[in-house]
Amino acid sequence: MAMASVSPQNSVPKVPVFLLFCMFLVFLSTHVSAQSSPVFACDVVSNPSLASLGFCNTSLGINDRVVDLVKRLTLQEKILFLVNSAGNVSRIGIPKYEWWSEALHGVSYVGPGTHFSNHVAGATSFPQVILTAASFNTSLFEAIGKDFGEATARHKSMELGTTTEKIRDLMHVMMWQLVKETDTNFTVSHTFVCIYIYLYIYAEQMSLQVVSTEARAMYNVGLAGLTFWSPNINIFRDPRWGRGQETPGEDPLLSSKYGSCYVKGLQQRDDGDPDKLKVAACCKHYTAYDLDNWKGSDRYHFNAVVTKQDMDDTFQPPFKSCVIDGNVASVMCSYNQVNGKPTCADPDLLSGVIRGEWNLNGYIVTDCDSIDVFYNSQNYTRTPEEAAAAAILAGNSLFVLRFLGVDLNCGSFLGQHTEAAVKRGLVNEHAIDIAVSNNFATLMRLGFFDGDPSKQLYGKLGPKDVCTAENQELAREAARQGIVLLKNTAGSLPLSPTAIKNLAVIGPNANVTKTMIGNYEGAPCKYTTPLQGLAASVATTYLPGCSNVACSTAQVDDAKKLAAAADATVLVMGADLSIEAESRDRVDVLLPGQQQLLITAVANVSCGPVILVIMSGGGMDVSFARTDDKITSILWVGYPGEAGGAAMADIIFGYYNPSTHQPSQNSLYFVFHIFSSGSKSLLLSLSFLILNQSLLSLKETYYEFLQWKIKITSLNLRFSLSGGRLPMTWYPQSYVDKVPMTNMNMRPDPSNGYPGRTYRFYTGETVYSFGDGLSYSPFTHELIQAPRLVSVPLEESHVCHSSECQSVLASEQTCQNSTFDMLLRVKNGGTMSGSHTVFLFSSPPAVHNSPQKHLVGFEKVFLNAQTARHVRFKVDICKDLSVVDELGSKKVALGEYVLHVGSLKHFLSVRI
Ligand SMILES: *[C@@H]1O[C@H](CO)[C@@H](O)[C@H](O)[C@H]1NC(C)=O
Ligand SMILES: *[C@@H]1O[C@H](CO)[C@@H](O)[C@H](O)[C@H]1NC(C)=O
Ligand SMILES: *[C@@H]1O[C@H](CO)[C@@H](O)[C@H](O)[C@H]1NC(C)=O
Ligand SMILES: *[C@@H]1O[C@H](CO)[C@@H](O)[C@H](O)[C@H]1NC(C)=O
Ligand SMILES: *[C@@H]1O[C@H](CO)[C@@H](O)[C@H](O)[C@H]1NC(C)=O
Ligand SMILES: *[C@@H]1O[C@H](CO)[C@@H](O)[C@H](O)[C@H]1NC(C)=O
Ligand SMILES: *[C@@H]1O[C@H](CO)[C@@H](O)[C@H](O)[C@H]1NC(C)=O
Ligand SMILES: *[C@@H]1O[C@H](CO)[C@@H](O)[C@H](O)[C@H]1NC(C)=O
Repeated sequence: MAMASVSPQNSVPKVPVFLLFCMFLVFLSTHVSAQSSPVFACDVVSNPSLASLGFCNTSLGINDRVVDLVKRLTLQEKILFLVNSAGNVSRIGIPKYEWWSEALHGVSYVGPGTHFSNHVAGATSFPQVILTAASFNTSLFEAIGKDFGEATARHKSMELGTTTEKIRDLMHVMMWQLVKETDTNFTVSHTFVCIYIYLYIYAEQMSLQVVSTEARAMYNVGLAGLTFWSPNINIFRDPRWGRGQETPGEDPLLSSKYGSCYVKGLQQRDDGDPDKLKVAACCKHYTAYDLDNWKGSDRYHFNAVVTKQDMDDTFQPPFKSCVIDGNVASVMCSYNQVNGKPTCADPDLLSGVIRGEWNLNGYIVTDCDSIDVFYNSQNYTRTPEEAAAAAILAGNSLFVLRFLGVDLNCGSFLGQHTEAAVKRGLVNEHAIDIAVSNNFATLMRLGFFDGDPSKQLYGKLGPKDVCTAENQELAREAARQGIVLLKNTAGSLPLSPTAIKNLAVIGPNANVTKTMIGNYEGAPCKYTTPLQGLAASVATTYLPGCSNVACSTAQVDDAKKLAAAADATVLVMGADLSIEAESRDRVDVLLPGQQQLLITAVANVSCGPVILVIMSGGGMDVSFARTDDKITSILWVGYPGEAGGAAMADIIFGYYNPSTHQPSQNSLYFVFHIFSSGSKSLLLSLSFLILNQSLLSLKETYYEFLQWKIKITSLNLRFSLSGGRLPMTWYPQSYVDKVPMTNMNMRPDPSNGYPGRTYRFYTGETVYSFGDGLSYSPFTHELIQAPRLVSVPLEESHVCHSSECQSVLASEQTCQNSTFDMLLRVKNGGTMSGSHTVFLFSSPPAVHNSPQKHLVGFEKVFLNAQTARHVRFKVDICKDLSVVDELGSKKVALGEYVLHVGSLKHFLSVRI
C-alpha cells in the first residue's frame, strides 16, 4: 500500500525529546488544587498521640496492626464493626465507616455509602453487565473495573508533574506556532511528530484501565466508601429472573472470567502491591440464588433444592474463580436457603468451602438483612441471639475457632443481638474478634488506617477524574462491543448515512434515558438516547408508539404513517425495570402488551430496511420477528448504559471500529494518505481538527470528513460491528409455560419431561442460542493442529487397567501431563474489519449426565478485512474438559470427545 512508504518509525526518535519538552513546559505551570478532606483514621497531624498506636503504624504488618487494634476495643466497640454502618471510636481516632457501596457497572447510588452532589454530579455508567458479558472480551471486563481512562495515566502524570490535557493544550499552541513561523512552508516532519505524540498519548490512555478510579476519586471527597458489593455473578439459570440483567449470563466459564476480571479491575493497584487494595470488591450472592419473586415464591423464603452435581458444575464455579483467581476481598451470602439451610448460617458453604477450600483473604458479608430474614421469615432459630450466633459461627463449635461464618452484617441484626448472644454463652468474644479482624484487615489493605488519604496513592484523584472523556468513551465502546446482531437480511445493516434521507425511529424505548442503565445504577455523566444517537447522522422522525413499555395500547396507525414515509425504520422495543427487576421476575418471556402488534404492523408498511432493536436484560420470545421477512434486522442491546444510543448508532451505521488501538493507527494512515495526496491545506485543517478535539472524539473527526465526501480509496473507514454474542439462551414462551422457576435442576429429567436448562443441558427449541451473534463480515475457522488421542497416565495397579472405566478421578497423578494445544486459523473473509469471538466447546462422552456441550475457552480477535491469524487454545483435560460426577467429584471421562469451533468439529479420544 502507498502509505507503507511513510513509516511511523522514521519519526520515533524525535518523540522523546519533544515529549520531554512538552512535559517540562507544562511542569512549570502545573499545580494541584486543594480538596476538602473528610475525617480520617490515624490522623497523627491533628492528634499526635495516635502516632504511638500500633494499628496506625504503617511499618508494621497488617496482621500485627489488626491484633493491636482489636485488643484496644471493648466488646461493645467491636460490635459496632459487625454491621455495615460501623460506629466511630473517637477515643482512638477512628471515624465511622459505611461499608455499603455498590459499583455493578459504574459507581452507584444504591447503598448509603455513596452519594452524588454538586461536587460530583455523576459517574460513568457502563452498560448493564449482561451486555458487557456479551462482548466476550476479558480485557474489557477488567478495563471497566479499573479506572481505565485515567488510573495509570494520572499516576504517571503525577510523577511527571503534569497531565495529559496539558500536553494536549501545549501541542495545540505549538501547532499554531509552527504554522505561523513556517507560514506557507509548513514542515511535514514537525506536523508528523506532533500528531504522532498526540496519538501516542491517545493510544496509551486507551490501553489503560474506570470504576475503581472514579470510586477512589469520590471517596477522596467524602462521597463514596472503599468497599463495593459488586459484582453479581449468579448464574442466569431462568430467563424470567428479574436480576439476570446484573449477571454475566448462564455459562459458568463466562461468569467465572467476568467475575475474576472485574474484581481484578476494581482491586488491583497500579503499584502492583498484592497486599493492598485500590477498592474492595465483593462477589454475590452466595449461592444458588437466582429467584426473586415468582408466582408466590420469594427469595426470603425460597429453599433452593440443588443436587451436589449442579452445585459443583454450575452454581459454585463463578464464586470459586472469584475467590481463587480474582482474589476477591469479600463474598456475600444470600437470602435463600440451599437444601434447607440459610446460606448465611451454613457451615459447609461458609467456613468449609469459602474459607477452608478456597482460602478467602477477606470478609464474608450478609445480604441486607439475611440474618433477620432467616430468623423472622424462615424461623431458622428460636431466638434472635441464636440467629446471631448461627451466622457468626456458622455451625462451628465454640472451641474450634479458626474458620467461622459471617464477619459483617448488612443491616442491624448483629448490632442488636450479638452482645446478648455473648452473654448467654452462645458465642464467645474470641469469635467476635475473628470476625472484626477480617473486617479490619480489609480496611487496612485499603489504606483506611494509613492516615491522610490525600498523601496516599490515588490521593490526588478527585472530581476531575470522574466522567472524563476517556471513561465515557469506554462506556460507549463497551456497548458497541456487546451489542448482538441476531438477524441481518442482505441489504439491511449497516445503513448508509448518506443514502438514508429520512429514518423513522419508533418505540417506547426509542428515546429513553434511565432505562438504558438498568438497575444498581448511579447518576450517569450524561445520556445519549437512541434517537439522539441516530439523529446525529441522519434526519429522523420519531414516535414512541406506546406510552410505556407495557404498551397496553399501541398507536398503530400513526406509527404506520411514519414508517411508510421513511427510507428505513428503527423500532426500539423491549423492557425496563417495570418488567424485570430486583423482586420482580417475569411470568412470561413475550414482548409486553401490544409491542408485537405494533412491530408487525409497522414492518408491513415499511419500504426500506426495518431494524428491530430489543432493549432488555432477559431474552425475549421474538420468534415472530425472526421469521417475518419484512423485519430485516434484529439487534439486542441489553441495557446499554449512558452512551447506549451513540453505540447503537455506531453499529447501525457501521462506524464501529472494535479495537481501541486501531483508531490511532487508522488515523495515522488517514493523515499520511492526505499527506501523500499533497493537499497541504487539508492536512493543516485535519491536524487542527484532531488537536482541537478531545482525544476521544478522534473518530467523530473522521466521520465529519466522511461527510465532507473526501474520497479516500485505500482506507477502510467503515468497520464491522464487534460480534457481540448472546451470553444466555433465548427460550420460546412454551418453555416457560412448562418449567417452574423454582426447579433448580440444570439437567433434564426424561421421566417427567423436564427439559433442563441452558445450552449445556437443554436440547429443545430455542429462539436464539447461547453464543449466537452475526457480524458484518464472514469469519471462518480452520484447524491447524490438535491431537486425536490423549492418554491419561495411570499406575499399573489402577483398577481401570483391569476393568472397564467410564472415567477417572482428575487427580494429581492423572493430571500431570494433561494439556495440549489446539491451533486454529481464523479468517475475516469480508470487506470490513472487525472483531470476532472464537468459541471452543467440548461435547464430552455421555457419562455421569455430563453436559451435551460446554464452553472450554473463548478468545476475541480483531481482524482487518481479508486477513487471517492464528488462535491457540491451551486445553487441559483435567481443568477444561473434565466433568463433575453425581457426587460432585471432578472426573476425566474416557472415550470420544467432540471439540467444536463454529461449524468445525474435531474428534478427540481420551484413553488410559
Ligand atoms: C512503628 O513500628 C516500627 C517497627 O516495629 C517501629 O520501629 C517504630 O518505632 C514504630 N513507630 C512508632 C511511631 O511507634
Ligand atoms: C462517636 O462520635 C460522637 C460525636 O462525634 C461521640 O459523641 C461518640 O461518643 C462517639 N462514639 C464512640 C464510641 O466513640
Ligand atoms: C520550503 O520548502 C522547500 C522544500 O522542502 C525548501 O527547499 C525551502 O527552503 C523552504 N522554504 C523556506 C522559506 O523555508
Ligand atoms: C414462622 O413463624 C411464624 C409465626 O410463628 C409463622 O406465621 C410462619 O408461617 C413461620 N414461617 C415459616 C417459614 O415457617
Ligand atoms: C428525547 O429525550 C431527550 C432526553 O430526555 C429529550 O431532551 C428530548 O426532547 C426527547 N426528544 C423527543 C423528540 O421527544
Ligand atoms: C400487510 O399489508 C397488507 C396490505 O399491504 C395487508 O393486506 C395485510 O393484512 C397486512 N398484514 C399485516 C400483518 O398487517
Ligand atoms: C477488548 O476490549 C479492549 C478494551 O476496550 C480493547 O482494547 C480490545 O481491542 C478489545 N478486543 C477486541 C478483540 O475487540
Ligand atoms: C506428555 O504427553 C505428550 C503427548 O500427549 C507426550 O508426547 C509427552 O511425552 C508426555 N510427557 C510426559 C512428561 O509424560
